[in-house]
Amino acid sequence: MLYGMDDMITLEHLTKIYGQGDEEDLCVLEDVSLSIKRGKFTVLLGPSGSGKSTLLNLIAMLDKPTSGKIFVDGEEITALKSETARSALRLQKMGFVFQFDGLLPEFSLLENVDMPALMKGNPDRQKAQILLENLGLGPISHKLPADLSGGEKQRASIARAIRNEPALLLADEPTGNLDAARKEQVFQDFAKMSKDKGLTILMVTHDVRAADYADEVYTLTNRKLVKTK
Ligand SMILES: Nc1ncnc2c1ncn2[C@@H]1O[C@H](COP(=O)(O)OP(=O)(O)OP(=O)(O)O)[C@@H](O)[C@H]1O
Ligand SMILES: [Mg+2]
Repeated sequence: MLYGMDDMITLEHLTKIYGQGDEEDLCVLEDVSLSIKRGKFTVLLGPSGSGKSTLLNLIAMLDKPTSGKIFVDGEEITALKSETARSALRLQKMGFVFQFDGLLPEFSLLENVDMPALMKGNPDRQKAQILLENLGLGPISHKLPADLSGGEKQRASIARAIRNEPALLLADEPTGNLDAARKEQVFQDFAKMSKDKGLTILMVTHDVRAADYADEVYTLTNRKLVKTK
């Protein structure tokens, strides 16, 4: 498979093996090739330990594949040589919601949400506050992460991830700590963001109901990605 103009993410013969080349090695992804089109909301399902976070980390350039290539928005990210180049691309194009919220403990929710914009040189607390309000966190935006519930932190990390209006949102179980109603709300919000704003979203989840809201669904099993919607 070759990179196409309307692809946001292209994986070419992607293989990831953890280990040093002995019998203890663990192959998580084997010769995976696929592309995710711009503006699609794609859901990634798969059993625990199947390699979903591994794949997101590779696309986020937090880890390197054993072999194969990854293109994001036409750029071969696996060919980027310096951490500076990787950071710049992340800041420019990507938003992340990690499996663990990753909020900075010494800053308020509002400061956390505005942080990506500050790093890019255009902070605006009012915009950050609006994002928090949209997620029902307006009244507690001044609080520190330690004083919040897991679900509140998770919603704040979603606000932070979309603060710079990224082209690509990578979300690793962003609804793991949320109740059923809030989960559906996030799935709905993600579907709306991709539809209205052309945002490409790749979301890992264990919740099969997310499939109803997604444009495409892949299931990761036995080191391969299978398209199930
Ligand atoms: N840094 C690492 N070194 C060695 N093995 C690892 C490393 N990170 C993950 N693994 C292993 O790779 C496999 C895939 O892990 P990964 O975290 O990608 O799974 P996952 O699909 O995200 O699971 P979950 O749904 O539980 O989050 C697991 O067996 C895990 O133990
Ligand atoms: Mg995981």
